Amino acid sequence: AEKGRSIIEAAEANGIYIPHLCYMKKLRSVGSCRVCTVKVNGRNMAACTTPVAEGMIVENDTEELNDQRRAILEMLFAEGNHFCPSCERSGSCELQALAYRLNIMAPRFPYMFPLRKLDATHKKIFIDGNRCIQCGRCVRAASELDHKEILGFIGRSGQVRVKASSSKGLAGVDISPDDECVKACPVGSIIVKETAYRVPIGKRQYDTTPIGADVEAGKG
Ligand code: FES
Repeated sequence: AEKGRSIIEAAEANGIYIPHLCYMKKLRSVGSCRVCTVKVNGRNMAACTTPVAEGMIVENDTEELNDQRRAILEMLFAEGNHFCPSCERSGSCELQALAYRLNIMAPRFPYMFPLRKLDATHKKIFIDGNRCIQCGRCVRAASELDHKEILGFIGRSGQVRVKASSSKGLAGVDISPDDECVKACPVGSIIVKETAYRVPIGKRQYDTTPIGADVEAGKG
């Protein structure tokens, strides 16, 4: 591993996939979802924010860690309204793809069925709070890659949501379908209108190739 790299970057450079959600190449790592948790010399650490160091022993693909990952993903499924079969991101959603990879059958937690808002004020883009997992990738991508302070978090605790930084909602901000913040959403929360089913369900990225397979094939 090269000095200065995080565990996740070093692993990917060596063909090892560490499951993750809030981490994204090109963005500052924040270590918020904890899906990438690995054991470093026996202690749980976030692989996306922990730099490599001499003598580290890292465990990744163990039943204990994978069950912790399953629990986190199950909480995300239970806490929102995901309804995969009717979601436009089905087959290209990282949350769904991770659930398949880690063999989740049904969440161990009760569904909460929250009432969440949709912002469909923009002509071309909408944000569906029902599917937001608060990974913050869109907020960081808007700021760090698009250089636009147009998205942010509001609320506290279980009520935290992504919101456009205008009282008019998305209609009041400078956002377009080509922006990195739109592409950064790993789930079906930020969707470009009038693009549904351009790629048929069954033929999408994770319908044909499991998440992480590109990294394991040395192409990540
Ligand atoms: Fe590392 Fe989310 S991917 S904490």
